Parts: sequence; C-alpha cells; structure tokens
Amino acid sequence: MQDKSINILGIETSCDETAASVVADGQIVKSSVIASQTKLHEKYGGVVPEIASRAHIEKIHPVIAEAMEQAKMGKDDIDAIAVANQPGLTIALVVGVTAAKTLSFAWDKPLIAINHLHAHLQSAMLSEDKLQLPAVALIVSGGHTCLYDYHSPLEPKLLGHTIDDAAGEAFDKVATILKLPYPGGPSIEKTAEKGNPDAIKFPRSMLSRDSLDFSFSGIKTAVLYYCHGQDMKGQNKVDSMSAQQIADIAASFQAAVIDVLVKKTKRAAEKIGAKTVLLGGGVAANNKLRTALQKMCHNTVPPTKLLVAPKQYCTDNAVMVASLAYYKFKAGIFADLTLEPKASG
Ligand SMILES: Nc1ncnc2c1ncn2[C@@H]1O[C@H](COP(=O)(O)OP(=O)(O)OP(=O)(O)O)[C@@H](O)[C@H]1O
Ligand SMILES: [Mg+2]
Repeated sequence: MQDKSINILGIETSCDETAASVVADGQIVKSSVIASQTKLHEKYGGVVPEIASRAHIEKIHPVIAEAMEQAKMGKDDIDAIAVANQPGLTIALVVGVTAAKTLSFAWDKPLIAINHLHAHLQSAMLSEDKLQLPAVALIVSGGHTCLYDYHSPLEPKLLGHTIDDAAGEAFDKVATILKLPYPGGPSIEKTAEKGNPDAIKFPRSMLSRDSLDFSFSGIKTAVLYYCHGQDMKGQNKVDSMSAQQIADIAASFQAAVIDVLVKKTKRAAEKIGAKTVLLGGGVAANNKLRTALQKMCHNTVPPTKLLVAPKQYCTDNAVMVASLAYYKFKAGIFADLTLEPKASG
C-alpha cells in the first residue's frame, strides 16, 4: 500500500465549461469547480467558439485557484497536472493546455494529457473498485455518441460512433425546433415529462443489422418536417401548438433516441459478452435513459451490471480528467511541454 495519496490537479476547457479539480488516488474528490458559460451562449442557441475561448481566458486562473483552495492544498501537495487536450474546440482547449503546461513548468510537476471522451467514460468508474470485464461503455454527449469495448481506463477500444449528429446535438436541435430554452437536453427532458412517448412514431435508425454506429440526423429531420410540413414551405406549426402537443413531440422524440441507444448498447454488450455496461456524457444525465438502460441490463441473462456517472459529473467537469490521470500517472504515461490541443480524438 502506498503511504501517501496521489493528488492530481485536473483542468478542463474543451467546450463551454472552465473547470478545475483535485482528485486523490483517482477516486476521492477533494475539490471541483466549474464556471459554466451557458448564459453567454444562450442567445445564440449554441456554443460560439470565440466567446467560449475568451471566457476561458478570464476564468481559468480564478477557477484553478478556487480548486486548490477548496482542496486546502498548495503546490507541494500536488503530484501532477492533467489537462483535457482533445477532442474539442481548439481555441477553447488551448487555454487549458497552456495553463497546465505553465503550471507543470512553474511547479516542476509532471504533465498528463487526457482524452476528454475517455474522461467522460471515467466518470462512470468513480465509485467502482472492481470492474467486471468485459465491459461495454456508452458515451452520449453534445458532440459524440460512442460505444467502446472497455478493458482498462487507458485503452477503451472504439466499437461504433455516430455517422452524423451526436445524441446531445439532436436533443439541442430538436429543442430549438420546439422553441424550448437552451440548453436543449434538460429542456426536452422536462417538457417530455407531461407528454405521451407513443403519440408520434418517429423513425429509429438502426443502420445495418450488425452495425454499432449511430445516426440521429433522420429523427431530427422527422421532427422538423412534423413541425414545418414536408415541403418546409408551410407555416411553423409550433407557434400554434398546445403545450400538450409540444410535450408529446418532446416525449416521442426522446423515446425514439433512447430506444436506439439502448438497442445498440444491447447489441454491443451481446457481441463482446459484457458483464458490465458503463454510461457517461451529458445525455447520461437523462433519467429516462438511465432507467431504460438499467431495465435492459437487469433483463439480460445473466443480468449485466450498469455503472452510471453521478449526475453532477455527466456534463463537462475536471473531476473526470483528474481521476483518469491517476491511471496514466501510475502507468508512467506523461506528456511534455510540446503538448498541443487537438480538435479530433
Ligand atoms: N437531461 C438531459 N437529457 C438529455 N440531454 C442532456 C441532458 N442534460 C444535458 N444533456 C445534453 O448533454 C450535452 C452536453 O454534454 P457534454 O457536456 O458532455 O457535451 P460536450 O462536452 O459539449 O460535448 P463532447 O463531450 O462530445 O465534447 C448537450 O447536448 C445537452 O443538451
Ligand atoms: Mg463533454
């Protein structure tokens, strides 16, 4: 047993949250600070990269300082600096990467590069000690929808991904069509509570028989046609719809997306004989998705264990970055000061 805990400072700036956190031994959250930019992007109905980057520059120092203060730690208590350097908006990522490189140099601490998506996946592992393998992991976020064959935190193997829109993106776009408030995912979920999920049969795109890829652009277009007419020349019916009609569309859309996510995860779990299913990313905060996956796992013979990211760690945060970095630290996988942000990953 090691006599001293390994404390890692994690930094996250891949999109519209400036976040810093200190996590001990990959699981004990000492601090978590998130400065959300939702209010700044609200009026544009989506994230504006230049505005995001500028806000990260303003917030990065106070956010890191607060994370250190909350953790009651000074630089001598920190063993490494970790940063999400891919994938994401390059001009947003560069702010976190520059801060991390600067601290690594000034404090003389090792630097650890983290893949933001693998970190989302790590959120589901926060309270788990003994992961039963093989495991399938589903990441559903604003920019990605991915299934992984998960053997270890360091080597998730991609099994399938979206060929067009991400699940979160579809939630956001449909919320815009329905004129619901930004951000779209939570708005759709709330509106759907009063709706009938069977009211409208929106398409479920399963692609080919064995495919583990996703496609959500068809369902988004189906909602658009439903609201504006097939020729897109008619009036926007949303303005004259009752609250119940809007709720029915939201509930039917949500049910269709969840149906596809659950069926594809089941398909992947069967393919690799999974004993565990992991769920992470912003859309993983959706209660109906959590319940539907839980039901699928429970009904599998023998039942599969579902590990879900705690709600506060579904959307972007730095806890997941610092937590995953612990495994890289133990494996001696470090970056150097030439580290660059990367849009893809
Ligand atoms: N309760 C919810 N139901 C459905 N979707 C949700 C819910 N809460 C958040 N989302 C969606 O999650 C997405 C944000 O998640 P996240 O922060 O993980 O994405 P991102 O960081 O922008 O993208 P990526 O991680 O792919 O780079 C948004 O699309 C949002 O609408
Ligand atoms: Mg994210």
